[in-house]
Amino acid sequence: MGKVKVELGDRSYEIFIGSGILENFGKLAKEKKLGPQIVIITDPLVWDLHGAPLRKGLKDEGLKFNVLTVPRGERYKNIRSAVKLYDSLVKIKAHRDSTIVAFGGGVIGDLAGFVAATYMRGVTLVQIPTTLLAQVDSSIGGKTGVNHPKGKNLIGVFCQPQLVYIDVKTLTTLPERELQTGLAEVVKYGVIADDAFFKFVETNVAHLTTAAFETDEKMRAAMKVWERIVEESCKIKARVVSKDERESGLRMILNFGHTIGHSIETVTKYAKYNHGEAVAVGMVAAIKLSNTMGITDAKQVERLESLLQKLNLPTSVDKLSSRKIFNNLLLDKKVKGEKLHFVLPDKIGKVVIKTDIPDAKIKKVLKTIGCR
Ligand SMILES: NC(=O)c1ccc[n+]([C@@H]2O[C@H](COP(=O)([O-])OP(=O)(O)OC[C@H]3O[C@@H](n4cnc5c(N)ncnc54)[C@H](O)[C@@H]3O)[C@@H](O)[C@H]2O)c1
Repeated sequence: MGKVKVELGDRSYEIFIGSGILENFGKLAKEKKLGPQIVIITDPLVWDLHGAPLRKGLKDEGLKFNVLTVPRGERYKNIRSAVKLYDSLVKIKAHRDSTIVAFGGGVIGDLAGFVAATYMRGVTLVQIPTTLLAQVDSSIGGKTGVNHPKGKNLIGVFCQPQLVYIDVKTLTTLPERELQTGLAEVVKYGVIADDAFFKFVETNVAHLTTAAFETDEKMRAAMKVWERIVEESCKIKARVVSKDERESGLRMILNFGHTIGHSIETVTKYAKYNHGEAVAVGMVAAIKLSNTMGITDAKQVERLESLLQKLNLPTSVDKLSSRKIFNNLLLDKKVKGEKLHFVLPDKIGKVVIKTDIPDAKIKKVLKTIGCR
């Protein structure tokens, strides 16, 4: 089993990564003295698909646990769901020494994390992420929260988990599009921090699709690759978060591709592109901007575009209004009272942060990614 440490002084924690390890969580829970009461917050599909080994492992260790479910989907990541969870926690007499286990994708992780951070002024949180996006991104770093009608993730709090426990075998039940959305973040890590990791992804594309789960033999080979992909991604995120927990500087590099990506998601009302698809196009826009600014060369642009295409991620949009995308970039920053900054690759594996990029250059790049 792989282990990655997130160094945050006395709030440091470990990420455990393996394949087919859900049943062993019970042993670890006992060893780490989680409990006496464990409350698993999950969604019905995740519990149906992957609950059995988790339940068995906890039962075998004689640990007491409750399961609370939240309906699936981003629209349930709101304060009403949090209140319903508080009601259930009160009803089952969860106390300050209870442990909340977030078992699911990023929606469950953010919501259950927020509830753990606020119930009785905070109880212990464990993340068991089951989507690729949650395994390589949202379960690490301590950002928790819910959406507000006026914006995503507007209500939230930092709450670092006690540990993160990742079973890459859960990825085998994900639909192709969910795998791809997480792969955009994986590619991002290669670009911002590690050329060798980017190369590893380039050479293992064949394992990174649901077709790689079709036979036992293919699956065994794929699981080895996924373990490495998730572990390296976690290492990069852990390193960045350890240096800048509250996103005052370095952590901004994790936003590579997200500035324009977020605008694409907003302008298309979160319907046409999922997060990873929008980030993929955003990364292409950012590297093209970097090329226009004379920071990176055309070869790096081609390399990134080619990998994203091999992973079936989009590298351009279909006739979106560049004016709307640009205005949204400015509006978003105005609302948050921030300067518009771009994370631009110098080469694959290294990025720089730039502010004050001329508007004309941004608008020109938007035309090269399919905007009209
Ligand atoms: N906290 C952070 O730092 C951070 C970072 C990035 C994203 N996020 C948040 O993460 C959320 C998106 O997360 P997501 O992409 O995981 O989406 P999600 O949580 O909605 O999960 C997607 C779907 O996959 C299903 N699912 C989960 N695991 C599965 C499995 N193993 N097999 C089959 N189906 C499974 C879920 O039921 C759900 O319907 C957003 O709300 C976003 O804001 C948070």
